[in-house]
Amino acid sequence: MEEKLRSINLHKKPNHIAIIMDGNGRWAKGKGMQRVFGHRNALTAIRETADTASDLGIKFLTLYAFSTENWNRPKFEVDALMSLLVTTLKKELPEFIKKDVKINSIGNISSLPKNAQKVLAHVIESTKNNKKITLTFALSYGSREEIVNAIKNISKKVVNNELDVEKINEKVINNHLYTFNLPDVDLMIRTSGEQRISNYLLWQMAYAELYFTEVLWPDFRKEHLFDAIIDYQNRERRFGKTSEQIESDE
Ligand code: IPE
Ligand code: IPE
Ligand code: MG
Repeated sequence: MEEKLRSINLHKKPNHIAIIMDGNGRWAKGKGMQRVFGHRNALTAIRETADTASDLGIKFLTLYAFSTENWNRPKFEVDALMSLLVTTLKKELPEFIKKDVKINSIGNISSLPKNAQKVLAHVIESTKNNKKITLTFALSYGSREEIVNAIKNISKKVVNNELDVEKINEKVINNHLYTFNLPDVDLMIRTSGEQRISNYLLWQMAYAELYFTEVLWPDFRKEHLFDAIIDYQNRERRFGKTSEQIESDE
């Protein structure tokens, strides 16, 4: 573990890591338990990942906790996830404050149950001046829905003569996404062996490095995050340029 930590180049770390926390249901099933047991056991992984990222000096961590498509799961599971969200936020708030963690959310927050919206707003407000790391929860999040909303809002401004069509550029679009206050994703990690994006941060991941691991989310620990970061650091991000250009830039 120490050796892994030493092989991380702290000058080349990703600024923004986004994670698709997948595999809770399979983890529980493997133990002969109900899916919800897996969701309950996801908290240790969340805590350890956030603490490790923060200790490494990573400034943005964005966790996919509930997708727009997840509303189609059985009501029992959706209800359990929503109540878990409320209890977790309440329980963790003192820790977020102590550890200087700023909480943020992306997604269609108004579709969450009222009590979840209330607790979330309270946690965001209570941590708004924190600086060490921004921990964003994607809740009722869907990238396509986010883009549709952005287009609607931009169109309204055009119709009201607040914005000239010719002025629409990437920055304008960025500013109308849920992630307006977040930088692009550098590294996307998905657990549980699935190799897909599942409607997550499509625009924001345009040039992200993708990392897939077989580890199921409730088992994800410090060393797994180290592995992902080390893998990321061994890649060359060329952004369309040639390898020679990248070398001479360094
Ligand atoms: C991820 O684990 C958590 C959520 C989507 C809320 P899953 O619940 O998708 O677990 P699997 O993929 O069925 O194992
Ligand atoms: C993606 O996981 C959403 C979250 C992790 C919250 P899913 O398990 O819902 O994704 P698919 O539907 O299998 O791709
Ligand atoms: Mg899944």
